[in-house]
Amino acid sequence: MTRPGVGVVYRARAFDAPDDPFTTSGPAFRYDDDLGLAVSDDGVITERGPFAAVAASHPDAPTIDLRAGLLLPGLVDTHVHFPQVRVIGALGMPLLEWLERCALPEEERLASTTYAATVAGELVAGLIAAGTTTSLVFGSHFAPAVDALFAEAERFGLRMTSGLVVSDRVLPEPLLTTPERSHDEAVRLAKDWHGRGRLRYAVTPRFALSASDDILAACADVLAVVDGACFTSHVNENNAEVATVADQFPHRDHYVDTYDHHGLLGGCSVLAHNVHPTDAELDVLAARGTAVAYCPTSNAALGSGMFSLRRHVAAGVRVALGSDVGAGTGFSIFKEGLQAYFLQHLLGADGLPLAAGHLLHLSTAAGAAALGLGDVTGDFSPGKQFDAICVRPPVGTSLDIGLRHAGSPEEALGKVFALAGDADVADVWVGGDQVASGGFVRPVIPP
Ligand code: GUN
Ligand code: ZN
Repeated sequence: MTRPGVGVVYRARAFDAPDDPFTTSGPAFRYDDDLGLAVSDDGVITERGPFAAVAASHPDAPTIDLRAGLLLPGLVDTHVHFPQVRVIGALGMPLLEWLERCALPEEERLASTTYAATVAGELVAGLIAAGTTTSLVFGSHFAPAVDALFAEAERFGLRMTSGLVVSDRVLPEPLLTTPERSHDEAVRLAKDWHGRGRLRYAVTPRFALSASDDILAACADVLAVVDGACFTSHVNENNAEVATVADQFPHRDHYVDTYDHHGLLGGCSVLAHNVHPTDAELDVLAARGTAVAYCPTSNAALGSGMFSLRRHVAAGVRVALGSDVGAGTGFSIFKEGLQAYFLQHLLGADGLPLAAGHLLHLSTAAGAAALGLGDVTGDFSPGKQFDAICVRPPVGTSLDIGLRHAGSPEEALGKVFALAGDADVADVWVGGDQVASGGFVRPVIPP
């Protein structure tokens, strides 16, 4: 018999990185080679400490021994596009050409709800396989497709924030809506899904380039009526895009102001990219508590530019990682971390040197904070949900060999970011529910 409420004690070699290594001194990550985590039946971490001590205070709880692998907090993707799963990997185009030739034609296909449901299955499977337990997902322009996404995320128990993507100009006609319709559909979607289990709603104009002031005002109305909703969009990604937005909005101070003017920026707002910000824009983002989704593989694949992590940190702007699938080259947040490390290293004095602990923080706790979920997930402190992944590489692979010969926890964590892929993410838990086991994904709610 287990004590009421105490489901299980996990025993693991575990890393996490709760403290912001950019603003605090001290170790960038925590590591314990025999950690105990007591997790209640409802998925909350109730005690953390040396395994022997945690086991002693929970004598009736079963132990799950995960020491064959490394336990990490579930990864957080703060920017990933639902309808773009099938266009990952198109190279050689800048943003606006890529949108026109690759992304938008595929997004039109989600007008078919059957097609959308299939793609939703692919997206959710892709996130779980990569070890992403929490995500802010750019939805679809079609409300029934967004229903399909939320339903699939719920079936697999993912912690997901998403919403209807809205635009009323520039894009192909099937992707356009009106301020009134976008408002009504968003409110209906939020009523059905926001706050249901691990799901939340995000108000999502695609980008100012495809949004009039009227539809941005409608977005503000939705934010006002949906308590706790988030906001997400794109900003300052590409020079041609930035110039177009400046022409379209002559009365705004800058690109960030196109959103800020309508009161859209706050503590649960995430703007993707921000590769070309002015100092004034960084100041506004910092003042609003708005986070930036840094999407390193997308920025490189589209040739968008060099992201200045240094300027964001110096201005006090929160930053987390996004895969930006499908401009980004896959779901792996480990890969985004590695690409961030490469670029910041290559930038020399303009870059911010990143060590393995920085990468873990950016991949987990920083993402949770960006999404306003810092009290819920992102690390293994008591009171947080047990959102976790076990990295357990197949025997004989480079990662397996590397981990067996790592000289320190820091080295081991560096090898995870350098080498880990989907095949190494063996087990995945969200809120204590195991959604992948031995690499196999399974629904939490049977269909
Ligand atoms: N800006 C507007 N839409 C998109 C998109 O789908 N991907 C990226 N990377 N930038 C965008
Ligand atoms: Zn994007």
